[in-house]
Amino acid sequence: MKTLPAWASEEQLADIARQFGTPVYVYDLASIQARVGAFRGFDEVRFAVKANPNLAVLSSLRQAGVSSDSVSNGEVLKALAAGFEPADIVYTADLLDREAAAAVLEHRLHVNAGSLTMIDQVGELGGFDSITLRINPGFGDGHDDKVTTGGPNSKHGIWHGSLPEARQRARAHGLRVTGLHVHIGSGVREDFVPDTIEAMGRAVDVFSDTVERVSCGGGMSIPYREADREFDVEAVGQAWSDARDRWSEKLGRRIALEAEPGRYLVAQSGVLLTEVCGVNDTRSGNEEGHTFILVDAGFHTLPRPLLYGAYHHLSIMGKSDAATRPQMVAGPLCESADVFTQTKGGVPAPQDLPEVERGDLMVVHDAGAYGAAMASCYNSRPLPAEVAITQDGVAHLVRPALDVRRLIEEERASLPASLSPTALP
Ligand SMILES: Cc1ncc(COP(=O)(O)O)c(C=O)c1O
Repeated sequence: MKTLPAWASEEQLADIARQFGTPVYVYDLASIQARVGAFRGFDEVRFAVKANPNLAVLSSLRQAGVSSDSVSNGEVLKALAAGFEPADIVYTADLLDREAAAAVLEHRLHVNAGSLTMIDQVGELGGFDSITLRINPGFGDGHDDKVTTGGPNSKHGIWHGSLPEARQRARAHGLRVTGLHVHIGSGVREDFVPDTIEAMGRAVDVFSDTVERVSCGGGMSIPYREADREFDVEAVGQAWSDARDRWSEKLGRRIALEAEPGRYLVAQSGVLLTEVCGVNDTRSGNEEGHTFILVDAGFHTLPRPLLYGAYHHLSIMGKSDAATRPQMVAGPLCESADVFTQTKGGVPAPQDLPEVERGDLMVVHDAGAYGAAMASCYNSRPLPAEVAITQDGVAHLVRPALDVRRLIEEERASLPASLSPTALP
């Protein structure tokens, strides 16, 4: 059975829940920093901010020597607020919306363009002399089709067959293509590495006169289930750095190699704590029924199970030795899809859990990536609080739960009195 990660103690997690309420995300900064070491075969590690834009997380990754990849104006602001220099931020997208264009211009950010249009957009901004191109190599992989970011069904990246046109467009705008980037999906299998390297090699040939830097993207996963294998970052780093050396030798200059992980750096260093609020049962007179443990977190807190049928190991604090039976776990939202124990297509996937009582604390494991980052205020519920444990072991509230009253006041402020007649008590 999966146990709590080494950085977490039941006593401290219980304290955090008592002090800051539930649902609450908890991150351990020291173990996030320690994860960076696996990428030693790369010249640069660029954190995909989308995986966890919490300021404490970003700052500790910056302190560990990691640079950042932002995909929106908001993520640029987050990175700046965490102390990243503009030179350490790359803006990756398939288009420049107005806000992003303004941020790129204001902070002179290097752009990683994922479409031919975006090359034009950067050229039209004026004053830029270099650009990175994200390539769609014609295939992709990922833990779910929804996060497979290569191949003909993906909107991401410049199709490999369009690289000569990309070259012409960049040249027409006076942009040197100094970087080449590929990211075929999130939760990729190592088997795809050789083909991805080969595709990158062909792109390096197209831009052999200007390329200085190559990025293999992110996508490295973590063992969400006990039986899952560790992603072999070192072996993948070795394969890419061997290729980098071959390209460098061929071109007669050293090409830098970059990785852009998100999940790998933060997933295991975060848990979500949620309180058991009750139980509902559909078993009476029905063999196909389930016990539903009802908790105060839902898909507004952690959407991954709903979106991808993603597995998160669940455990009840203080009951690791108790007898268990298969049970479902569900949240408070008004949707039957608000269930943590489901696989793809919403198929029920109960987990072995002990008998629970109201007030028990449940731990949702491996919740540090794409957890709080994807949370919403659905059902007018607050975004969850986020707590970071610093190197000295002290827990700090980084973001309190978003106060719904504040949202209501903001709505009221812009409305005529007839549409918002009642001030909150
Ligand atoms: C361009 C890009 N880079 C990096 C990542 C990080 O992926 P992961 O968290 O799977 O490492 C993503 C996420 O989908 C991405 O779109």
